[in-house]
Amino acid sequence: MMTLNEKLLQVCRLFRIEGDFLGYDTIQMGNVNQTYEVKFRLPDGRKKSFLVQNVNTYVFKNPVQVMENIDKVTEHIRSKLPDQLTLHFHHTADRKTYVEDGSNFWRMTNFIPCATYNAVADLKIVRNAGQAFGAFQNQLSDFDSDLLYETIPDFHNTKRRYEALLEAAKADPAGRVREVERELEYLLSVRETACSLTALQERGELPLRVTHNDTKINNVLFDKRDGRALVVVDLDTVMPGLVGHDFGDAIRFAANYVEEDSPDFQKAGVDMEVFEAFTEGFLKETASTLTPLERETLALSAFVLTAELATRFLADYILGDPYFKINYPQHNLVRTRCQIALAKDMLRKMGAMEQAVQHAARVRVSA
Ligand SMILES: Nc1ncnc2c1ncn2[C@@H]1O[C@H](COP(=O)(O)OP(=O)(O)O)[C@@H](O)[C@H]1O
Ligand SMILES: [Mg+2]
Repeated sequence: MMTLNEKLLQVCRLFRIEGDFLGYDTIQMGNVNQTYEVKFRLPDGRKKSFLVQNVNTYVFKNPVQVMENIDKVTEHIRSKLPDQLTLHFHHTADRKTYVEDGSNFWRMTNFIPCATYNAVADLKIVRNAGQAFGAFQNQLSDFDSDLLYETIPDFHNTKRRYEALLEAAKADPAGRVREVERELEYLLSVRETACSLTALQERGELPLRVTHNDTKINNVLFDKRDGRALVVVDLDTVMPGLVGHDFGDAIRFAANYVEEDSPDFQKAGVDMEVFEAFTEGFLKETASTLTPLERETLALSAFVLTAELATRFLADYILGDPYFKINYPQHNLVRTRCQIALAKDMLRKMGAMEQAVQHAARVRVSA
């Protein structure tokens, strides 16, 4: 068997990197792919790092389609911003953006020296993350989303997610439905509101855009010195979608007082300071390109994405946890309860969230 050193060197050579291999560091951030900083001394004597990833093909069943999406999107951004720091993927001699060997699927990008944050560090970082995801949205506002594969079909089709929940409850294969009656009842009581974005999308009232679909703060690289956002990474789930999918999921994740699976769900709720900071950054970039209805449904989208995830956690619990990795038997139920508590708080604070969006949009449009 090859050592990891030998493997990484082989992969780098296939991506046409010349010079001496100096070694690698494993990057711990992120929990889907295996990520390495690989170091070389180039033939001209300069030291240079590259980012090499072993893509998780259990999660991404169609890695070639994923790479086609990523290549199109990154090249679009790069051609618009030739003088800025952007992400680009290396090609092999036969113009592929990946190297397959057995069950491994490798790719390589430029390495960007940066700081990354797993949790919300301070409001400036939150604002800059909002700005980074807004800028990403904007850079792709003229990209035809039909050119992308829908690598995970119906990812944010909330109607389908509800149907799947009801089917799971009807089948009740693990005998858990009795235990979750209250959660089911709550989710069904907000079904119409939760499905409202999907309904607007189906009626063609909201434009399909390019969405990132994993808008966590640890997918933004920041400048170490001044905390400026440099680039958005982790483009595996780039697909056609609604702007609210990215905005709403970012809020759901970052603005909650507690972690998404906190057993202390009485404490779950929207931290309005975080909401305002993210929104300010996001709208700074997007206010002028969003349609009025997109703006008006941003706050709502936070609730929609939270309720939608609750239906997914609950369906998984009812089915005996086939999808989400669990650390203890009731993990998916705890996750469900935490998302429901957050969703309830979002409905209570909807007026304030809407005002914050309007305020941020006004500031930008008039600036
Ligand atoms: N081009 C890059 N330059 C420097 N660090 C990067 C780069 N791309 C990703 N990283 C770091 O690697 C981590 C994991 O990468 P990511 O693509 O997000 O994988 P995962 O899907 O496992 O989250 C990121 O959170 C970031 O810290
Ligand atoms: Mg990531």
